[in-house]
Amino acid sequence: MSFRTIEWRGNMVVMLDQTRLPGVEVYNEYGDFKEVAEAIRGMVIRGAPAIGVAAAMGIALGARDIIADTFESFYQQLINVCDVMAKTRPTAVNLFWAIERMKGIAEANRDKGLDVIRKLLKAEALRIEEEDQAICKAIGRHGATLIEKGATILTHCNAGGLATAGYGTALGVIRAAHEAGKEIKVFADETRPWLQGARLTAWELMREGIPVTLIADNMAGWFMKKGEIDICIVGADRIAANGDTANKIGTYSVAVLARENNVPFYVAAPVSTFDLEITSGDEIPIEERHSREVTHLQGLPVAPEGVAVRNPAFDVTPARYITGIITEKGVVTGDYSRQLRRLVDK
Ligand code: MRU
Repeated sequence: MSFRTIEWRGNMVVMLDQTRLPGVEVYNEYGDFKEVAEAIRGMVIRGAPAIGVAAAMGIALGARDIIADTFESFYQQLINVCDVMAKTRPTAVNLFWAIERMKGIAEANRDKGLDVIRKLLKAEALRIEEEDQAICKAIGRHGATLIEKGATILTHCNAGGLATAGYGTALGVIRAAHEAGKEIKVFADETRPWLQGARLTAWELMREGIPVTLIADNMAGWFMKKGEIDICIVGADRIAANGDTANKIGTYSVAVLARENNVPFYVAAPVSTFDLEITSGDEIPIEERHSREVTHLQGLPVAPEGVAVRNPAFDVTPARYITGIITEKGVVTGDYSRQLRRLVDK
């Protein structure tokens, strides 16, 4: 990969600033957990798995700076750090998964002394990052088997190396198919309002030399109808026990259009994106972001001042529209209620 989404360097967490792409490629350094939380909230780093990695690293930074004499005092302050992280963005379950993993490390090692616990927390954050890269590669391997030679793949948002510790989920499948010489082409939805498709997916794929064509969101259906799209692959922020999937706003429309036009629609996500504690997508909290994301483009107004705006950042695609879910443990289709549980236990 020609860029690093996030890494721990020296005493700092370093992130590629995704708010500045594609125009400016700049890496920001963070030495404090509150700054990391702000970076997640402000979408310097975004995408479910990447948010999880950033939160874990932020917690490790926070743990490093805690002043305490006893485990109880340390742990109480660690919980406060975790609470700050948990309030950054509500929809991607990987954030809460990573927080629980970090808390678990502290609890399991309560007898080891605070300096050891601090080191273990840093090691765990780095492990989450490393594992994520391996998981994305496995998702790519499984997903590539679904791609025919010469296929045109439509994707929405950015579920790439920029949204993970590297390689990507939906773009991991695309990368793996490309690496396997399948001569694929990609259509990237621009993904209003934040333009993850135009700004990030197009940038990432062009960097890799993977043929990509950018389209406005409202063009996807037309290209499907004309038979120009063979398969849709998107990422996920949270997958409920019945397979209902939250992903970037607009994903639901893509899925419905795919069904209408007999185009297979796949979700690619790690098992850490499953939330089996909720039975359906109705229980997924959907983040509403600032109206300015809709009324402005690159700081310029594109709507009359004072207009009423709604800006949900995600929608939920009902499981019945999803042909299959591609994970690091294999591809599941059909009866998601049973299959997702089986994968978690595998
Ligand atoms: O608001 P974002 O950019 O964090 O939303 C990202 C998405 O919806 C991605 O598709 C999802 O997190 C999967 S990333 C591998």
